[in-house]
Amino acid sequence: MRVEEVEAAATHDLRWRVLRNRRAGAPVVFPEDARPGAFHLAVRNAGDGVLAVASFSAEATPHRPGRTAVHLRGMAVDEPYQRHGVGRLLVTTAVERLRREGVEVLWCNARDSAAGFYARLGFEVVGEGFVVPESGFAHHVMLRDL
Ligand SMILES: CC(C)(COP(=O)(O)OP(=O)(O)OC[C@H]1O[C@@H](n2cnc3c(N)ncnc32)[C@H](O)[C@@H]1OP(=O)(O)O)[C@@H](O)C(=O)NCCC(=O)NCCS
Repeated sequence: MRVEEVEAAATHDLRWRVLRNRRAGAPVVFPEDARPGAFHLAVRNAGDGVLAVASFSAEATPHRPGRTAVHLRGMAVDEPYQRHGVGRLLVTTAVERLRREGVEVLWCNARDSAAGFYARLGFEVVGEGFVVPESGFAHHVMLRDL
């Protein structure tokens, strides 16, 4: 397995299948994709193509005022590969890059169903929970000080 930077378009299939439950017409383009400096990482292996994707873009968080922060979005691991360390590999690789770039905080709107994953990777819950109306999923902001 290797982690590579990819174009936004290379994330769309996994976003649709894993995060949008293959819903016809569900949006797979995020406004953050167009931000200057946004980047996308994918985990690939030789036989099976893209196993996981995640996207990163500069965005401050009120939970760490004044800190250089990056928003993690679109974290998705292909179902047969979930719980095999693929998501950990992707986030760990991103954290190394972001630290080199001087980023101080990585944060995301974590689905409560995935909160245990982020907690295992050193993220903490901040603030109150909320529901994203389009999906109905309960979320909390989670962040990791880098
Ligand atoms: C959540 C997700 C990104 C995690 O990636 P993954 O490759 O399955 O996770 P990993 O195997 O790298 O797990 C790392 C650790 O987190 C734990 N973990 C993974 N998913 C978890 C979950 N949903 N709940 C609790 N713990 C979880 C693993 O057991 C592992 O623990 P360990 O440190 O004791 O070994 C992936 O399962 C996924 O795409 N799920 C569906 C979409 C989704 O929820 N995306 C996140 C939206 S915010």
